[in-house]
Amino acid sequence: MKSYIVGNWKLNFTVGEASIYLHKLQKKIPNYRDIQVVVAPPLVALQPLSLQVDRHKLKLAGQNGFYRDFGAFTGETSFAQLRGLVDYCIIGHSERRYILREDDKMVQKKVAGCIRNKITPILCVGEIESERAFGETADVIRDQLLGGLRDVSEEDITKVIVAYEPVWAISGHGSAKLATPDEVAEVVALIRGILAELYGGEVAEGVPVLFGGSVNPSNAGAYLTVPQVNGLLVGGASLILGEFVDIIEVAKRVKS
Ligand code: 13P
Repeated sequence: MKSYIVGNWKLNFTVGEASIYLHKLQKKIPNYRDIQVVVAPPLVALQPLSLQVDRHKLKLAGQNGFYRDFGAFTGETSFAQLRGLVDYCIIGHSERRYILREDDKMVQKKVAGCIRNKITPILCVGEIESERAFGETADVIRDQLLGGLRDVSEEDITKVIVAYEPVWAISGHGSAKLATPDEVAEVVALIRGILAELYGGEVAEGVPVLFGGSVNPSNAGAYLTVPQVNGLLVGGASLILGEFVDIIEVAKRVKS
């Protein structure tokens, strides 16, 4: 399976800054066959960047989208509108779950909206610090996964990526702690187990599972060598071109 290195730019960069970054990134990286580089710019930059992106080198992702395709939904942007601009979309990120109050039902509809519009959802799951402290991590992950995948058929699960992002390990929120590779391995194995229950072991094996949470060039190798981890979802470090390129190069080294 390919490794995925996904940069989530969150609410950063103007359209101009995003364009300059993309231009420089494309100059710095070759066309990797076994690594899929993806960046998720802010919504306003997607249209111009979609004209600029070299899709042999990298793909674009949305950070969010609305689950209905068209209609009276002021301020929303649908996957039907994102179709053609992006190949992937981050769904159910903890910042949307906890700051924007997105629940599993909404995440479920958004995953379905992506698939309906030929966009690969990157479904994020992860526990908050108190849930881990109370031993609730497995239940939280199970609920989020079952909720998000409720409408996803065996055929369509092959078009889904799952990302494990422990909320307490994401920079800018809470604990400033790093997840250990063992902690990541345990939850990723749990995710694989739940996918196998839902879709069978062989199909589950084919679903890429990424890790995210304070990933940087120094720890990327340790996370990428966790069994059954197929890539990284990078926030802060993806905003610094040199660091993002270094992470991609670490992935290349781990792969070979
Ligand atoms: P950081 O890498 O900044 O911790 O963010 C992780 C994240 O939320 C990516 O989606």
